[in-house]
Amino acid sequence: MGAPPVAAKIGDAELHYDGRVFKLPVVEGTEHERALDISRLRDQTGLVTLDYGYKNTGSCQSEITYLDGEQGVLRYRGYPVEELAEKSRFVEVAYLLVHGRLPRKEEQQKFSDLLTRHSMIHEDMTQFFKNYPEHSHPMAILSAMVVSLSSFYPEMSQDNVDEELTHIDITTTRLLSKLRTVAAFSYKKSIGEPFVYPRHDLKYCANFLNMMFSSPVRPYEVNPVLERALNVLLILHADHEQNCSTSAVRAVGSAKVNLYAAVTAGICALWGPLHGGANQEVIEMLEEIQKMGGDVKKVIERAKDKKDPFRLYGFGHRVYKNYDPRARIIKKTCMEVLNELKIKDPLLDIAMELEECVQTDPYFVERKLYPNVDFYSGIIYRAMGIPVSMFTVMFAIGRLPGWIAQWKESQEDPDFKIQRPRQIYTGPTVRHYVPLEERG
Ligand code: CMC
Repeated sequence: MGAPPVAAKIGDAELHYDGRVFKLPVVEGTEHERALDISRLRDQTGLVTLDYGYKNTGSCQSEITYLDGEQGVLRYRGYPVEELAEKSRFVEVAYLLVHGRLPRKEEQQKFSDLLTRHSMIHEDMTQFFKNYPEHSHPMAILSAMVVSLSSFYPEMSQDNVDEELTHIDITTTRLLSKLRTVAAFSYKKSIGEPFVYPRHDLKYCANFLNMMFSSPVRPYEVNPVLERALNVLLILHADHEQNCSTSAVRAVGSAKVNLYAAVTAGICALWGPLHGGANQEVIEMLEEIQKMGGDVKKVIERAKDKKDPFRLYGFGHRVYKNYDPRARIIKKTCMEVLNELKIKDPLLDIAMELEECVQTDPYFVERKLYPNVDFYSGIIYRAMGIPVSMFTVMFAIGRLPGWIAQWKESQEDPDFKIQRPRQIYTGPTVRHYVPLEERG
């Protein structure tokens, strides 16, 4: 894959400012999204733009993921996420995101072999787990471990990023495989059980479930429905264009750090409750509602109260102003998993009641706040036996191929620039130092 094609110029917009007229090119992407190209704005006019949270700012051109938040459309490399979730596996989607096309048979085989071959982590690294305090958050462990991989596998993390790009297959498979192992080990550490090493005969998701749930005294057989559900969840999380963590990966990567460091930045960003950390918050919120006797109206009122910082976790999205297509699939998968395991989870009933009330509440309707990807995913993880503190780690495993693909694309972009936004300074104007004894 080369650099992304450049969006076509389709005309000019005019900016009338300070008695002059400036022409700004209007460009269009392949799905007819239009943008005002302001890359020469400051040179031409002396102005910069001000856009809190980058709500109106395209930070790059990308050919990885297409998202239409108004229509509820999400496609990876052109393929609808619904089709991929139904027919594909996570490993194949990871290949698609990183390489830009679905693998041929022998490429798929080679990719799977590499995943198996690189699944172990250096034995010295397993010592790190032992020294973390009890109850350490697995996201703290995960981020530290991923950046530590750069010391144990320096051949892929030397300062020569261009070298990494030429070894992208090995780099990608190593990171994908080892992140899964680190995640499972951090869980075993948290419950005080011995690590279960990866097995060469199991596929990616089955291997993860086995590392999580088997033990020397407790044989574990992977349930194919759970394996399938995990594939679906990871596929649905695999990329989401320029979200907070991906933007962090691109921004940190733009300083030409190694891939491990860039991905670690993504992991840390994902941890936040407004981003990937919301899946943990959702379950905690549903548990809280259950403790309060199941009264969903109370939390809805709290979420609407502007004096209360509380938000309804699992609702709302920066770009979706329609039902998040991922949430629809996850809700269906959730029912399938609970049916298969014959679990009646009271939190699911509370979640569905909450969704129903929100759908008719003018506050949420006016603001177009729908359930997002994090709303039902936690109920599936709970049913699988994955503890709440691991939920965001699961999101990280899923998002990893997207981070790698976006990092790779940014490094290969001929218009590559270190990311360095401007600001509008609002502090004091110049003043002069007064020695302490004269300050009174
Ligand atoms: N509960 C109550 N009010 C909300 C919520 C919510 N979950 N989300 C948005 N609003 C209100 C917000 O108060 C604001 O109201 P007003 O216009 O009166 O000031 C309006 O809706 C617009 O919200 P915003 O904060 O300006 O929108 P944003 O695009 O900056 O934020 C968001 C998007 C996802 C951070 C936000 O919807 C939120 O905090 N949701 C809860 C956390 C959550 O579920 N995050 C997971 C997102 S999906 C996974 C991922 O990709 O990260």
